[in-house]
Amino acid sequence: MHTFEAIKNRRSIREFTRQEITKENLEKLIEAARLAPTARNEQPWEFVVITNQAVKQKISQITDPNGLFISSAAAAIVVFCLNSKYYLEDGSAATENILIQASDLGIGSCWVAGDKKPYCDKVKQLLKVTDKYKLISIIALGYPQQSPGPIEKRAIKDVVHWEAFLTKTLYQKEFKGNNGKSKKSKPKEKNSKKTGESCQKTKNASPKTIKKQKSSKGFFTQG
Ligand SMILES: Cc1cc2nc3c(=O)[nH]c(=O)nc-3n(C[C@H](O)[C@H](O)[C@H](O)COP(=O)(O)O)c2cc1C
Repeated sequence: MHTFEAIKNRRSIREFTRQEITKENLEKLIEAARLAPTARNEQPWEFVVITNQAVKQKISQITDPNGLFISSAAAAIVVFCLNSKYYLEDGSAATENILIQASDLGIGSCWVAGDKKPYCDKVKQLLKVTDKYKLISIIALGYPQQSPGPIEKRAIKDVVHWEAFLTKTLYQKEFKGNNGKSKKSKPKEKNSKKTGESCQKTKNASPKTIKKQKSSKGFFTQG
């Protein structure tokens, strides 16, 4: 598969078949991860590969509700980085490489948040990881039981700024991350299954729903 196809086809997958992932393919994912760029080439990462059902089950409980589906994944890769200056960037680059390589292999994946989550210590305790390390991500992996199709992403014309940030279109963030000042809450979809992040709820949205959401997404024109 061409790189761009693997990137374009990748979607967060949270429902998996019972098919196992071969050790060879799991190693390929780690191979992709370890080749990611890192600040000062520090490579501060460690990857814990989990296929044991009891351990997946425990992680699923620890990360409930965000990572509940991990118990049904064929495997999970947990990414840790030494608490270095750029641990988050480095670990995120490795995580993204795993997601893209998985997509290339036809393996479904979902990034479950690590850093900043209250369950970090519990995950570290379970996997016998010392305090020197930060939890970056838990990646659920398995062959897809769902085919979510395309998701709404901001268009290139809305996100690109040639040479400088000169644009008439502003993106109004609706999320809590907006220094906590956001008044709007994310649009909720009716009948959506509670299996993880609320972000995922556009996964099976009809084009009509997506259109509706787009108009409430907060794109507006200045002047
Ligand atoms: C830093 C980060 C943390 C995430 N955490 C979770 C999570 O805890 N649970 C989950 O189901 N999805 C999680 N996701 C997946 C996002 O919900 C998903 O990427 C987003 O909705 C866009 O969908 P897509 O991946 O199909 O393009 C996370 C993604 C990122 C990048």
